[in-house]
Amino acid sequence: MAVEQTLSIIKPDATRRNITGAINARLEEAGLRIVAQKRIRLGRDQAEAFYDVHKERPFYDSLCEFMTSGPVVVQVLEAENAVALNREVMGATNPADAAPGTIRADLAESLEANSVHGSDSPDNAAREVAFFFSDEEIVG
Ligand code: CMP
Repeated sequence: MAVEQTLSIIKPDATRRNITGAINARLEEAGLRIVAQKRIRLGRDQAEAFYDVHKERPFYDSLCEFMTSGPVVVQVLEAENAVALNREVMGATNPADAAPGTIRADLAESLEANSVHGSDSPDNAAREVAFFFSDEEIVG
C-alpha cells in the first residue's frame, strides 16, 4: 500500500469549542501524520469554490455560510491508505450514523456542524490539497 496524502479540515464548530488539539490527537493516534497545517478564515468565494461539487444540493448555501462562520484548520494528513484511514477515524458524515469512538460520533454537533471534513478519494485528495497548499508548505 502506497503512502498517500489527504486533505482534512477542522470546521468552525470545532475551532469554536477549542477542540482542535483533541482532534489532532485522534488523527495522530490513528497513525496519520500532519505534514501541513494552517488556521484560516475561509472567504465566501473560497467556500463556494471548495464545495462546488455540492452546488446543486439544497444544503449548499447553508454549508458555505457555516464554513465561513469562524476559523477552520486546513491540514494535509499522510499515511499509508490515508484517504480511507482518515474517513474511518472521522466516521460517517451524519454523527447520528457514525460508529462509536469516531470523531464525528464523539464530537460533532450535527450533520452540518460535523467537526471535520476529509477527502473522499485519492483524486479529490490531490485536488483539495492543491486548493489550500503549495508544495513548499507540505513537509513530510
Ligand atoms: P463534508 O464532508 O465537509 O462534505 C459536505 C458537507 O456538507 C458535509 O461534510 C456536511 O457538513 C454538510 N452537509 C449538510 N447537509 C448534508 C447532507 N444532507 N448530506 C451530506 N452533507 C451535508
